[in-house]
Amino acid sequence: MGARQPDTSAFGASALAPRLDRLRDFVVDFAALLSQTKDEARILDVGRTFLADLVAHDDWLPEAFARPDPIRYAQHLLHCDSLERFSVVSFVWGPGQATPVHDHTVWGLVGVLRGAELEQPYLRLADAVIPAGPVRRLRAGEVAAVSPTVGDIHQVTNAYDDRVSVSIHVYGDNIGAVRRHAYDRAGRPKPFISGYANTLTPNLWGADAGPRRTLNS
Ligand SMILES: [Fe+2]
Repeated sequence: MGARQPDTSAFGASALAPRLDRLRDFVVDFAALLSQTKDEARILDVGRTFLADLVAHDDWLPEAFARPDPIRYAQHLLHCDSLERFSVVSFVWGPGQATPVHDHTVWGLVGVLRGAELEQPYLRLADAVIPAGPVRRLRAGEVAAVSPTVGDIHQVTNAYDDRVSVSIHVYGDNIGAVRRHAYDRAGRPKPFISGYANTLTPNLWGADAGPRRTLNS
């Protein structure tokens, strides 16, 4: 008799169960980091290594959270810290989809899991937003930072017009509930609260969600 195979029916077409333990380790590590420091530079510095580790593997994101929306990019909440100190989100970019020029008002890290994206940073003047440097191409495995300190206004576009790209973001708040701004060409801010596309989040805490590194070791 062979070993019993895990039930993967909840994870769409994938033949193997997603390695949710990778995401769980990431959120446990991030919670521990934020318990140690409130220093943004250190959070971005250390958090960048956590996110780089997470997006170095493309075997953990359940298919439901990598599904594009034909109309606009999709923003799926993967995890929100119980104290709303941070949130982890998958952004799914359909072919050619882009954000408006926007800000975040909190620190954030962006890691590309699949495909690639183009980021144009902007500077806000009294009567305009202007490009602040060249467009940056972020490839799978690469990580970038945003914040009011290091540069907070940008526009992000799927680098591909013929395939989906997916990036994983972590922000220093429950980003879907944060009041922030999109900007028109005249630099006029338009407030928005993004919300999330999903109503259910991955269950990171079940016995079948992979080995527990942090809690049992
Ligand atoms: Fe952004």
